[in-house]
Order: sequence, then C-alpha cells, then structure tokens
Amino acid sequence: MNKAWWKECVVYQIYPRSFYDSNGDGVGDLPGITQKLDYLKELGIDVIWLSPVYKSPNDDNGYDISNYQDIMDEFGTLADWDNLLAEMHKRGIKLVMDLVVNHTSDEHPWFQESRKSKDNPYRDFYIWRPAKDGREPNNWRSIFGGSAWQLDEQTGEYYLHLFTKKQPDLNWENPRVREEVFKMMDWWLQKGIDGFRMDVINMLSKVPGLPDAPVQNKDRYQFGGRYFINGPRLMEFLTEMKQKVLSRYDILTVGETPFVTTQDAIEIANEQTGALKMVFQFEHMDLSAETGAGIGTTQPRRLSDLKTVMSRWQKDLENQAWNSIYLGNHDQPRSVSQFGDDRQYRVESAKLLATFIHMLQGTPYVYQGEEIGMTNVAFESIEDYRDVATLNMYREAVEEKGADPNQTLKIVHAKSRDNARTPVQWDSSAQAGFTAGTPWIKVNPNYKEINVTAALADPDSVFHYYKKLIQLRRDNPVIVYGSYDLILDAHEEIYAFTRTLENERLLVILNFSKNSPVFELPENIAFSSAELLISNYAVDADEDIRQFNLRPYEARVYRLG
Ligand code: GLC
Ligand code: CA
Repeated sequence: MNKAWWKECVVYQIYPRSFYDSNGDGVGDLPGITQKLDYLKELGIDVIWLSPVYKSPNDDNGYDISNYQDIMDEFGTLADWDNLLAEMHKRGIKLVMDLVVNHTSDEHPWFQESRKSKDNPYRDFYIWRPAKDGREPNNWRSIFGGSAWQLDEQTGEYYLHLFTKKQPDLNWENPRVREEVFKMMDWWLQKGIDGFRMDVINMLSKVPGLPDAPVQNKDRYQFGGRYFINGPRLMEFLTEMKQKVLSRYDILTVGETPFVTTQDAIEIANEQTGALKMVFQFEHMDLSAETGAGIGTTQPRRLSDLKTVMSRWQKDLENQAWNSIYLGNHDQPRSVSQFGDDRQYRVESAKLLATFIHMLQGTPYVYQGEEIGMTNVAFESIEDYRDVATLNMYREAVEEKGADPNQTLKIVHAKSRDNARTPVQWDSSAQAGFTAGTPWIKVNPNYKEINVTAALADPDSVFHYYKKLIQLRRDNPVIVYGSYDLILDAHEEIYAFTRTLENERLLVILNFSKNSPVFELPENIAFSSAELLISNYAVDADEDIRQFNLRPYEARVYRLG
C-alpha cells in the first residue's frame, strides 16, 4: 500500500459556531479557535476540518453560502482566518476547509441574478423548470422536508433545492458553473490550505429529464435519490475537478457521499485513478436510522450488523481505496450516546469507541467534544432546538401528520443534529466556559461533570485515552497500514479483529456490551507472548489472554509476539 500523510493523520472536526466564543456574542468564532489551538496540539491531532466559515445567512448554519471568498460576519474576518491558518501551520496542524458546491444560498449574487429573468446570463447557473400540470416539475421530496421545488414569483418558474428552499442547487451541467467553482477552490488552495471536505459531493449530477421518483408511501413528495445520487456525470465532474485543480496540490480530499457503496468508493477514491483521496460512507450510521432527516426510527443497532458493514468496508477497500473512519459529526447524535452507554459506562464506552475508530484501517475523524465524551442532550421544549432539519421534521410530523408532540420530542432527543451542536464544554463555570454571553443554543446541563478542564486534570479521562491512542498510531505503522481480519465473527457482544503488517500483528478486543462475556482466542491465532498496548481498564500483567472475562465495554489492544 502506498504511504501518504493523509493516511497517517488524525483529523479533528470543528463546528465553529459551537467551539469557542472569544467576544461574548454567544457564537463561536475564528479567534476562539485560534485561542484553543494549544489544547488541540496537546491532544495530538494533525489536521483540522473546519465546517463552513464563509459568508452565509445561516439558514443551515453556514451550509448555505452567499460568498465563497469571504468570512461569515459572526465568525470574524479574512484577517482572522489568515491568522488562524498561520498559527495552525506554526504548530504543524493542517487545515481542511468545507467545500459546499452542490448548492449556494439563495442570497448568493449568482442566484440573485439567476432569478431576475429567464434570459439572465446566470439563469442557467441553477436548475429552473416550468410548472407541470399546474404544480411542481416532479414529485421529489427535499431532504429537509416538503417539496424539493420552490416557485419563484418573478419568472413564474420553479427552482430545485435538494435541501432547504434557501439552498438552491447549482447546475453542474453548465461548464461556467464548474469553471467558477474550480477558480474559487484554487483561490483557497493558493492561500495555503491543505484540503477539502466536500459536502454531499455525490449529488452533483442529476439524471436528465429529472424523472418522478418511485412512490414508496402515501406522502405527497418522494425520495428521488436514484436520480441525483452518483448520477450519470458525477465521475466526469470529479475527474475534471481533479485535472484542473486537485492534482496540482498535495492535499487531503474527502467526499461526503450518502448512500455510497464500496464499489462506488473504489471508483471515486481509487488508489491509482480516483478523483478524491477518500469518502465518508454512511452504512454504519444508517443501521438504526433513516438518513438526512435528522429524525428517523430509533431501533437499536445490532453488533452483528455493525461487524458486517465495517468488515465489508475494510476488506473491499483494501489496496484499492482508503477508508475514512468516524462515529460522529455535526449531523449525527453524539457517538457515545448512539454506540455506547452515555450514563453508567460513559467513560468506559467512550474509550472503547475511541479504540475502535483508531484501530481500524483508514483515517480517523474525531468530532469536537468526542474527546471528552460529550453526550446527547434532551431539551424539554422544541423551542430550544435550532437545527432547520429538526424543526422542519417536527413541524411536518406534528402539524401535518398529527403525530403526538411528546412522542415526536423523544425522537428529536435521540436523533436531532443539535445533539452534536451544543457548545463545547470547556469548564464548570456558567455556560460551560463557552461564552461570556448567552449561547446561540443552550449548553448541555451535564457540563459541570463533563468538561475539558476536568478531563485534563484526570489522568484516566477520555481525553488522555484519546491522546494515548493518537500517539500509538504515530508510533506503530501497523495501526495505519496493517490489513484487517475479523475474528470471533459470530460473537454477539465482542467485536474482535487483528491487524497485520509483514510479521507484526495486533489483536483488538472490544466488548460492545454491559455484560461480561468470555473471550476465547481462536486456535489459529498463534502467539508466544503478548504485549498490552492500551486498555480502558487496569489489566493484570500476567493474565492469560487465551481466555478471560471482559468487563463492561472493555477494550484491549495487544501486540502479538
Ligand atoms: C451535508 C452537511 C449538512 C448540511 C447538508 C446540506 O450533509 O453535512 O450539515 O445540512 O449537507 O449542505
Ligand atoms: Ca463570537
């Protein structure tokens, strides 16, 4: 396997609005990030992926951009951004920017022009269609609810928006759109950034004719994914982007690609011919929920399904493409609440999940607050929620479909994207030390117990465990490059696998349950001695690892002799 820095690094995602507020207006900002760089350096991460910081009216917290080459007022100025980058590079930390080019804000000058008249030079920058039989051009549902089409009075035509109506989709069929986007990307790369995370990048190409989606339920609007996910010209657009921009820089690129299969990933992120370095897949996240909506079913995930999905990604991509590994981000509930136990075994299970993401083959992504084991929140009123997807879904469920408000609020508690967007808990002072003012969204009431200051002071904290894992990864190429093999395939509580590089082999044992299952090392795994590299419990030095009882959420990694 080819070596590369973007395979060896650990990425930390910052959602700036909720990271740290430096001026007391209640909103996190760029100077706030700069002030906390030493904390991140201490953690040991190599790269920061910054969620969007561009000019935006914030209908979707910056994922609706009105100027790609300037900074959102609330976050600071371009000078603040230059300073942040300089301070990062000074500390050896790289910067990956979010690239949101499936859509812009409706307040972007391109759209302002586009909507003026049917013959405006920017008309074709977006996807306009006349009404069909007196209503929307097709039956597509917006990912955030309602129709994916909005009638614009000025010209009497509809424009397509796969997300909110303030996020009109760009028309990638238009070569001028592609040229403008490539120019903008180049502008940021020239400023010295180290890569892009590409928002819903596999939705750029829509099937010509925009056919109606198959009807799957009684709803008026239907999910049209088959006509815009991995569409017919996607690879062509990405290849052009690679030729004209990406290939000229040594950068990390990661595509956010909902509904992607391993076969798609091998094409998009191929070691030899791929346009991108890696993609985010969603199969493991979707095991217990519908995607995109922020609200879905809440049925529990089965460990056997998690093993099947992750093992397929590990094995299918081996030597072909590179995995990105994550359990949380700004669109998902907190990982310890989703995959672990955020009460009795919060610390143990957060460490187990950390072991999991660092020990798989691929680049690990840590989401802000995960390194101290931050949890979901359960606000008592829908009024306390801010996420447009959550609010739309709640309204649709309660007002249009007559769902029970309390029941719906329970689903919000489990699934809302705001679970990940409450402010980072820095200390036990008012507002968790996030702001001197009133935060834009309430802090999680558990901040007195769970916060950075407490984590730094406690050598057994989740933070110090992450730090150790990151260092281990740096010291042991087998953790980065070793091949993955599942063992104990059928065990219902233990997820165990080996990592092998030449004659070095690691054994990773993870008890994903509150029980104490017996671990028995399979006969075919030969070892003479085993060195414990890390564990989330105290371990007896001369314990026989052929057979022992694991404690709740116990995680161990051994180097086999
Ligand atoms: C991606 C982002 C999400 C955003 C959506 C529309 O899924 O991660 O936060 O709402 O795209 O841009
Ligand atoms: Ca601020």
